[in-house]
Amino acid sequence: VQIQKNEDFRPNFHFTPKKNWMNDPNGMFYLDGTYHLYFQYYPEDNVWGPMHWGHATSKDMITWEEQPIALFPDEKGYIFSGSAVVDEKNTSGFGEEGKTPVVAIFTYHEPKAAEEGKKDYQSQAIAYSLDEGQTWTKYEGNPVIPNPGIENFRDPKVIWDDINKQWLMALATTEKALFYTSQNLKDWKKLSEFGEKTGAHDGVWECPDIFPMQVEGSDEQKWVLIQSLNPGGYNGGSGTQYFVGDFDGKKFVPAKGMEALEEKHPFWIDFGRDNYAGVTWSNIPDEDGRKLFLGWMSNWLYAQEVPTTTWRSAMTISRELKLIKEDGNYLLTSEPVEELKKYRGKKLQKKDIKVSGNKVVLNADDIDLARAEIRFSINDLKETTYNFRLSNDMGEEFIISYDHAQKEFIMNRSHAGKNDFSEKFGTENSTAPRISNSNSMNAILIIDKTSIEMFFDDGKTVITEIFFPSQPWNEFCFTAGLEDFTVDSLEAYELEFPKTD
Ligand code: FRU
Repeated sequence: VQIQKNEDFRPNFHFTPKKNWMNDPNGMFYLDGTYHLYFQYYPEDNVWGPMHWGHATSKDMITWEEQPIALFPDEKGYIFSGSAVVDEKNTSGFGEEGKTPVVAIFTYHEPKAAEEGKKDYQSQAIAYSLDEGQTWTKYEGNPVIPNPGIENFRDPKVIWDDINKQWLMALATTEKALFYTSQNLKDWKKLSEFGEKTGAHDGVWECPDIFPMQVEGSDEQKWVLIQSLNPGGYNGGSGTQYFVGDFDGKKFVPAKGMEALEEKHPFWIDFGRDNYAGVTWSNIPDEDGRKLFLGWMSNWLYAQEVPTTTWRSAMTISRELKLIKEDGNYLLTSEPVEELKKYRGKKLQKKDIKVSGNKVVLNADDIDLARAEIRFSINDLKETTYNFRLSNDMGEEFIISYDHAQKEFIMNRSHAGKNDFSEKFGTENSTAPRISNSNSMNAILIIDKTSIEMFFDDGKTVITEIFFPSQPWNEFCFTAGLEDFTVDSLEAYELEFPKTD
């Protein structure tokens, strides 16, 4: 038997750098038909090191082409996470005749100051591009926001706040998000702070994002604040929570019920262990109007030890966020972007699948389970446990159980292949609450070689997990517990990608 390792684990359709270390997505913007993705990158090794911004471009947020490195560390420090905006009106003055500036806003991290125990080792800086994000010039007036004497002061996410006619920045510090305003992207003024009294705090707040959103099916507008933290995620380690509320141009006020959330509250962009530091794309045209999101598909608990060596880490599939209101609660949902459907190849459809014991519903001859989209629905849920399972000939398996009595999903990857690289990877189950109250469930599973992204109930409960099976998965099964059950319909697609070398 051929045992999968290193390069065999490279995803079929999730972005990975050709070589070496990657973490957070950075500076995501859209311009003239191209989606840009920058990322925390260390080109010299397959573990974290002096940070650069790597760069990749795509026409559809699915197939990526890696570009030359965009930003290199310099005497002011490493280039940590941040964002980019298209400065259409040239408010920054960086523009030139016929050339719209794209402005990147990032954190400088001074490693020496940090090592010496100083607190002011992080500050905010900008760079601009006059060739649509290909090459960048750092602003000579950096930093634009010097450090006020606090530790963990990073990850600026800037939007054009069209309601209040300002550039608005969300920034993270240990236990809160900070908001700043500017008219020219160079001079910034602090507006307010949020978060000390609500949400999960068992770690450092990082990588915030703030934006207005229309509640689906209504005229109501709310503001969403996405807030990653590490550790302290829903299943430990890295995780991304969110808050919904109002923003008057200065201050973010959480909606009723969100003012004092417990650590294990239900408002997470993803409950799985492998979606971190995700933010939204900027400059999406109004005609499109979508809120598009992507995250880093790993976790600081073990990211530097996963069994790949040529490169380390992949990004999640691009997702569309929606804001809904249900039983008085605002919920952020996410589903894979429509663009993924273009890649559907071979299709298999089944109806009325009666499950008693173990039932193989798909095998690798039907659909290659290393590049698959599986959709299914179950009507009339019963108070029993529903198990979904990926397995291979070596007896390895990844199991997802849904316990309808507890309304809880339980994921187990302790026998899902290689996991001896880190104690923190495979030993414990991860769990996720079922958010929907509906008596029927629908699911979308996106499976690549080393990841599964699960979107239940129109994206109300999302779970992303990675694994490293010794052989490709070759069966997808439903398994009944005490009671038999029926899966009312199932649709599976093999996803087809143009081969890259
Ligand atoms: C999140 C993070 C950011 C920081 C970057 C450094 O994963 O810690 O807060 O800017 O990674 O690479």
